[in-house]
Amino acid sequence: MERATWFFLIYLICCDAASCLTMVAQTNLNITTDRSVLLALKAHITNDPRNIVFTNWLTTTPVCNWVGVTCGARHHRIAKLNVSHFGLTGTIPPELGNLSFLVVLDFKNNSFHGILPQELACLRRLKFIRLGNNKFMGDIPSWFGSLFKLQAFGLCGNQFSGSIPATIFNLSALQIISLCSNQLSGMN
Ligand SMILES: *[C@@H]1O[C@H](CO)[C@@H](O)[C@H](O)[C@H]1NC(C)=O
Ligand SMILES: *[C@@H]1O[C@H](CO)[C@@H](O)[C@H](O)[C@H]1NC(C)=O
Ligand SMILES: *[C@@H]1O[C@H](CO)[C@@H](O)[C@H](O)[C@H]1NC(C)=O
Ligand SMILES: *[C@@H]1O[C@H](CO)[C@@H](O)[C@H](O)[C@H]1NC(C)=O
Ligand SMILES: *[C@@H]1O[C@H](CO)[C@@H](O)[C@H](O)[C@H]1NC(C)=O
Repeated sequence: MERATWFFLIYLICCDAASCLTMVAQTNLNITTDRSVLLALKAHITNDPRNIVFTNWLTTTPVCNWVGVTCGARHHRIAKLNVSHFGLTGTIPPELGNLSFLVVLDFKNNSFHGILPQELACLRRLKFIRLGNNKFMGDIPSWFGSLFKLQAFGLCGNQFSGSIPATIFNLSALQIISLCSNQLSGMN
């Protein structure tokens, strides 16, 4: 095996898996905790010009009925979070990593800023991530490479810097990757 392969495997086994386990107690998560995650996200939203989240994400209605939320039929947990084009300003809280049944995360075309919390590495079921047209910054995290089911991955139109982590190219299910309009330096 090549040195890079070993490094990748060791990295995945020791660093990533371990940090995910210590960060999030994956047991005891249920639809009630999913709701608390979205309330944490709501608390990190500073501007909601169309009053979508502020008026609709209320504890008086079941979280599966909130705008932008779709729950899975089998596990009755949040499977899809789509707030694209809502016009939101805010940051992503680490709690989002507790949405352990999330398959689709679509935040496209808002004004989310800040870095992507490392806790998102725990979203092992994620297949689609769309974060384009926001103001995210920092490195493209190498933990993206541990989301084995990832099929599409869009980060265009943000302020990511640094290089593209090699781990991303090891995702065998990945079909679409768009990184355009960032401040990335050459690949290495
Ligand atoms: C990715 O994994 C394959 C085998 O599954 C390996 O050949 C390759 O070197 C790995 N690449 C990186 C960057 O870890
Ligand atoms: C969710 O889990 C908590 C404990 O973590 C428990 O108190 C609560 O009753 C559970 N809710 C549902 C709907 O299962
Ligand atoms: C999210 O919703 C928008 C419309 O509101 C739609 O165009 C887009 O395809 C949805 N994203 C996903 C991943 O389904
Ligand atoms: C993004 O959303 C804004 C409104 O918040 C809208 O004016 C703009 O056309 C949208 N851009 C795209 C590419 O959809
Ligand atoms: C959710 O995640 C946060 C931060 O990662 C953690 O502190 C919290 O205990 C988690 N909540 C549950 C219910 O596991």
